[in-house]
Amino acid sequence: MKIAVAGTGYVGLVTGACLAEKGHNVVCVDIDEKKVEKMKAGFSPIYEEGLEEIMQKNYKDGRIDYTTDYESAYKNSDVIFIAVGTPERSDGSANLDYIKKVAIQISKSIEKDTLIVIKSTVPIGTNGKIEEYIRRNLNKNIHIELASNPEFLAQGTAVHDTLNASRIVIGVESEWAEGIMKEIYSPFEIPMIVTDRNSAEMIKYASNDFLALKISYMNDIANLCEIVGANVEDVAKGMSYDDRIGSKFLRAGIGYGGSCFPKDTKALHWLSAQNGYELKTVRAAIEVNEQQKLKLVRAAAEKIESFEGMKVAILGLTFKPGTDDLRESPAIPNIEYLLDRGADIYAFDPVGVENAKKLFGDKIVYTKTAKEALKDAKLCFIMTEWKEVKDLTPNDFNENMAESIVYDGRNCYCPEDMKNAGIEYYSIGR
Ligand code: UDX
Repeated sequence: MKIAVAGTGYVGLVTGACLAEKGHNVVCVDIDEKKVEKMKAGFSPIYEEGLEEIMQKNYKDGRIDYTTDYESAYKNSDVIFIAVGTPERSDGSANLDYIKKVAIQISKSIEKDTLIVIKSTVPIGTNGKIEEYIRRNLNKNIHIELASNPEFLAQGTAVHDTLNASRIVIGVESEWAEGIMKEIYSPFEIPMIVTDRNSAEMIKYASNDFLALKISYMNDIANLCEIVGANVEDVAKGMSYDDRIGSKFLRAGIGYGGSCFPKDTKALHWLSAQNGYELKTVRAAIEVNEQQKLKLVRAAAEKIESFEGMKVAILGLTFKPGTDDLRESPAIPNIEYLLDRGADIYAFDPVGVENAKKLFGDKIVYTKTAKEALKDAKLCFIMTEWKEVKDLTPNDFNENMAESIVYDGRNCYCPEDMKNAGIEYYSIGR
């Protein structure tokens, strides 16, 4: 099958590379000439384990190519996947401008019957609307149809998640579209759930928002644990033995970040309000997360008179380990809070520094190791549970810091060990 993929972000590039890996002929389309050159040379523009290997292998075997020439890419494909961004607008709604732009390019380029598949996370009803939009702009006697195929990959494990997905959700309105989608995914040998397009679009939001809710619920419980004197980790463990609850996404911390949960919770809440319904549970998840992000820095501010001129170590910048992505990372508002109050920030992150520089420039100092960031610091905040951070011992804090005060937003260390080493240690829900 000849497949074009529009957009080479996390979703588009990983989808393209994995479709090629499963034997399809794939061309990835992006407007950025430099990015295209880089990908042709075998380099991934994003940090994602295993991605470069399959990009290089399939490029060498002629199963994947990259281009800015959308016209010939779309014209020569049987199926076009749309995987461009749907960023959040200031009112919380999803911005569909990129999708519409690709839709226009598709309608101008294609010359034969084509199935167009939306991978991007889009508000319920979008597949239908984009189908009408393309048909209106087509002016040719050919058949086009839209299929919804939401993506569930998580950053950092994107290739593994795509090749070993828990399910493939297919939203279609005809047997023709269903047949093509099944043919594309048959080499994956993963359970397929076939439904209508609106339900497929809803499955994506409902899944992401449920996971966000699960995290916010645990953060809410963690906050209560602190007040009543319980340990949220033991509580989560005790809950997890019930397989109706499960063991995943019960980790309390300083809140969820990333390109999906914050955006998708707000988008579904917005969409619901537009339809005259208030999604109270999702609103609660959003509110808890907002409060949670600054919980530790606010607690520190209550104890410390002034941050002015104080050397503060920040360990971890990305929204989670295993990615170089800082989008919606809780580290961002924490750093802004401390910078506003005059702190001197020394930050360590194993892979996120280049992206952090785009946000903070030289307003903070970036160190090569965690210990360098800790050197002479009077305060330390843990923002991301990188291995390099979790591997630090109580001694590392005592030997390097001017004063051993540690606020741990990701529960990386044993409170007893830290206390026994004389460290003033605060974590979440313990
Ligand atoms: C998420 C979904 O997992 C994925 O299925 C979807 O397609 C896109 O959104 P991702 O954003 O890559 O993937 O990261 P994920 O691993 O889900 O973590 C999101 C955030 O939740 C991170 O900031 C993480 O630190 C936080 N988190 C996760 C917790 O605070 N506690 C947990 O128990 C789990």
